[in-house]
Amino acid sequence: YQSQNGQLDLALEARPSVLKIGNQSSDLLSYSGRIPGPRIEAKPGDRVRLKFRNALASPTNLHFHGLHIPPTRPADNPFLRIAPGDQTTYEFTIPQDHPSVTAYYHPHLHGYVAQQIFGGLGGIFVVRGALDQIPEVQAAQEEFLFLKDFDLSQNFNSRSGHMGMQMIGREGNVLTINGQIAPRIKLTKGLLRLRIVNASTSRFYRLALEKHSLYLIATDAGAIEQPRELSELLLSPGERAEVLIKADQGAGQYRLLNLPYERAAMGMGRGMMGRGMMGEPDNRSTTNVLATLSYEEDVQPQALPDKLIPVSRLAKPSTQRQFTMNHGMAPGQGMVFLINGRPFAPDRVDTQVKLGSVEDWEIINTGVMDHPFHLHTNRFQIIEQNGQPVATPMWKDTVLVKTGESVKIRVAFQDYPGKTVYHCHILDHEDLGMMGIIEMM
Ligand code: C2O
Ligand code: CU
Ligand code: CU
Repeated sequence: YQSQNGQLDLALEARPSVLKIGNQSSDLLSYSGRIPGPRIEAKPGDRVRLKFRNALASPTNLHFHGLHIPPTRPADNPFLRIAPGDQTTYEFTIPQDHPSVTAYYHPHLHGYVAQQIFGGLGGIFVVRGALDQIPEVQAAQEEFLFLKDFDLSQNFNSRSGHMGMQMIGREGNVLTINGQIAPRIKLTKGLLRLRIVNASTSRFYRLALEKHSLYLIATDAGAIEQPRELSELLLSPGERAEVLIKADQGAGQYRLLNLPYERAAMGMGRGMMGRGMMGEPDNRSTTNVLATLSYEEDVQPQALPDKLIPVSRLAKPSTQRQFTMNHGMAPGQGMVFLINGRPFAPDRVDTQVKLGSVEDWEIINTGVMDHPFHLHTNRFQIIEQNGQPVATPMWKDTVLVKTGESVKIRVAFQDYPGKTVYHCHILDHEDLGMMGIIEMM
C-alpha cells in the first residue's frame, strides 16, 4: 500500500488463515490473508486512514510500533479492545519531520499479544524520508527481512497455552523470512540494503552474513550518522535495523546465518524450557541458515555513503527514574513478570511525565532472563550501558537489557499528551505483567 497525493487509504482484516509455511499447510493468523501482512508505505506529511476489521475468534487491536503519532484514538491507542466481528478506523498524520523508519505494526491487546503474534500477525510500516534520499542508499537493492518463528504443530484457532514456554517466552523451531523458510534472494546491484524486523514473539536473532561485513545505517527509530561496520547484529524482539552490504566478494552464494545466543542465565533457555512440548530438537543452541543471498554474476561493488543523517543529542534531563525488571510468584497466578515490583494493572498510572521535558530512565534487569525494554510513542537515545557512557547517539525505541545489566536511556517528551505503555518485548513477559502505563501531560 502506498500513498497518493499525501493520502493513504487502506483496509486490513485480522483473520484465521490456512497458509503454507514450507510445504506444510497450517492454521495460522494473518492480516488480510498474508504473512507478513501487506507492507504499508507512507511519507512524512501523509494522512493515513486504515479500516480495520477483527475476524479473529479473540479480541485484538493494532499498534504502530516505531511511528511517532498520538497514543490516543483514532491513532495508536494500545488499550483499545476490538471484539471479534467489530471494526474500527485508524486515522493519523505522519508528522512532517518524521524520520525514515522501518516500523512494525502488530496486535497489542494485553493478554492476547504473544499468542496472536506467534500465530502470524504482524507487518511492516515504512516511512520514506531523508535517509531514503541519500543517493547511495537510493541506488541500493532494497530487501525487507521480516523474521518470525513458527510452531506449526499448534492450531491457532484454538486458544491454548504452553505454560513452560510462556515463562521463558515461546519460540517455534521453524524460522522464516517473509513467511518463507530459507529463501534465496537474488542480488543484482553493487550495494544491498537490508531492512530487518525481529517480529518474533520471543526469539532473538544474532545475524551474520558469510564473508561479508554488515554496515549499520539505521536502528529502530532512525538513521545513524555514518555507516558502522559490524561482523554480526543481535536483534531482540521488536528491534529493527538497516544494514548495507557491499558486493565485494564476487559471484556466489552467501548464507545469512543465525548464530546461537543464550538469552537466559544458567542455560535456562536451552534446558528444560528450550524444548517444545513434543520434545522436538532445540535449534537455539545451533547455527541456522535463514536465507541464501545469491550473486549470479560479478557485480561492481558500490561505495558506501560517507555521511547519513545527523543525530542531535538530547538536552540534559530534568528528571531521573529507575525501572527494575524481574519476575516473581503471585498467589493464584503463578509466575508474574514485574516492573518495579508490580505487574501490569490497566487502571493504574505508573509514570507521569510533563510534556516538554527530557528524562533519563535507568532500566535495571535483576532477573535471570534478558528483557528487551520498549517505550511507545517517543523514541530515545541510549546514554549509558552498565555505567559506561555510549559514544554514538542512535535513535531507538526498544533496548535489550541483558540479565544482570543496566541501561540508561534519554527521552524527550514533546508533543503528544495521553496514556500509553512501556513493556518487555518478549511478548509472553508483557502478557504476564511486564508492562507499565505512562501518562504524558
Ligand atoms: Cu511492538 Cu508495545 O509494542
Ligand atoms: Cu510499540
Ligand atoms: Cu522480558
